[in-house]
Amino acid sequence: MEKVIEFIRKKSARVAVIGLGYVGFPLLVELGKVGFEVVGIDIDKKRVDSINRGESYIFDIDSNELGALVKRGRISATADYRILRGIDVICICVPTSLNKTKDPDISHIIECCQEIAKYLKRCQLILVESTTYPGTTREIIKPILEQSGMAVGKDFYLAFSPERIDPGNKEYYLANTPRVVGGITSACTEVARIFFQQITEKVVPVSSTESAEMVKLLENTFRSVNIALVNEVAIICNKLKLDVWDVIEAASTKPFGFTPFYPGPGSGGHCIPVNPYYLSWKLKELNYQTRFIELAGKINRNMPNFVVNRLDELLNKRGKSIKGSFFLILGAAYKRNINDTRKSPAIEIMRILMRKGGKVIYNDPYVPYLKANRKTLRSQALTKGTLARADCVVITTDHSVYDYKWIVRHAKLIFDARNATKGVASNKIVKL
Ligand SMILES: NC(=O)c1ccc[n+]([C@@H]2O[C@H](COP(=O)([O-])OP(=O)(O)OC[C@H]3O[C@@H](n4cnc5c(N)ncnc54)[C@H](O)[C@@H]3O)[C@@H](O)[C@H]2O)c1
Repeated sequence: MEKVIEFIRKKSARVAVIGLGYVGFPLLVELGKVGFEVVGIDIDKKRVDSINRGESYIFDIDSNELGALVKRGRISATADYRILRGIDVICICVPTSLNKTKDPDISHIIECCQEIAKYLKRCQLILVESTTYPGTTREIIKPILEQSGMAVGKDFYLAFSPERIDPGNKEYYLANTPRVVGGITSACTEVARIFFQQITEKVVPVSSTESAEMVKLLENTFRSVNIALVNEVAIICNKLKLDVWDVIEAASTKPFGFTPFYPGPGSGGHCIPVNPYYLSWKLKELNYQTRFIELAGKINRNMPNFVVNRLDELLNKRGKSIKGSFFLILGAAYKRNINDTRKSPAIEIMRILMRKGGKVIYNDPYVPYLKANRKTLRSQALTKGTLARADCVVITTDHSVYDYKWIVRHAKLIFDARNATKGVASNKIVKL
């Protein structure tokens, strides 16, 4: 153990990051920045080539910074797992998802661990960062790695550390977001703790891999449930003819016992709508139904329908209908200032409007094209003319680059699902 710790402290340990997406790519760059020689592994050849050319494909990573690290030989990428032969620390950041029946799909973790097992060597540290259900590291990953004949805690180290990265967040990033780690044995936790100390200000060790896995699911379930609660409050306020945004703002002045969450057109991304269901699935095995998770998912998934119903009412009042009306959707990403459209409620709203016979165009400076109802839509230029032509402009994502005053000035009617027009006074604006 001392040898690998010394290697890590001196940054002479060679590190591999497997899965170079929203989680793995920033980690690769951070490790390179602090002085490790780090190689990224991904089955997507295009991503590998892009990194080797020093070209970033996600927002939070600057190509100049990446390029400099590639040039200095700190960072490289490959699709070939054989590189693992010379690696001391391996970080697993491959995707996890749900299948059609909402059961966890951890097939990418399994495939990548089968590859790791082929090249496992003594004193290697394996860190799992992909979100998954409690028990995965011990019950699924450990046996695959031990097929090599080596024993965890003795010959190699295995720990789980949930990834907390929040793409687009300029205030909290890898280095200043505390990191939770839980190992299979206490030696595993200790080696993992020292590794993460090299890139993070604060590391929080927990008693087991299961606790670390559960921490992530608690965090995401907490968000999902609170978003659902406030989405339901938005529906209630609409029925009571109250402004939900005013209500939340006033409630937020309470200095204790209230944490503000904000309603919206639904919850998107790859985490909040997905991860809580890992717990539901796990608890079904123990004959327990996770009621909060199910209810929160249901409410959040229904928000695009709520938005479309509100649009229907608005148009009816003006003697129009969704069928035949022209909608300009502002923002396709699932949240502000990023280009990720996975499970984006904006796209779901476009789908419903199109199914109902609405004519839909969208603008998103970060999303040049997208697919909705088997059609490819391209982001349209945001001009005075387009704004004026739309029967309704729908703000689905509150990107900071939009000039909301200018948008309000030129649009006929605006439905603002994000309170993006806060502070802009106009009777053309209708809020969620
Ligand atoms: N995106 C987030 O904000 C976020 C935050 C915290 C945790 N997570 C979790 O982190 C994990 C990764 O998420 P992501 O958003 O980075 O995913 P992603 O889809 O952006 O990237 C995953 C990458 O892994 C690659 N990959 C798939 N299978 C592979 C394999 N067998 N070997 C090598 N590469 C492989 C893919 O080609 C892709 O480039 C997931 O479990 C996710 O739930 C994501």
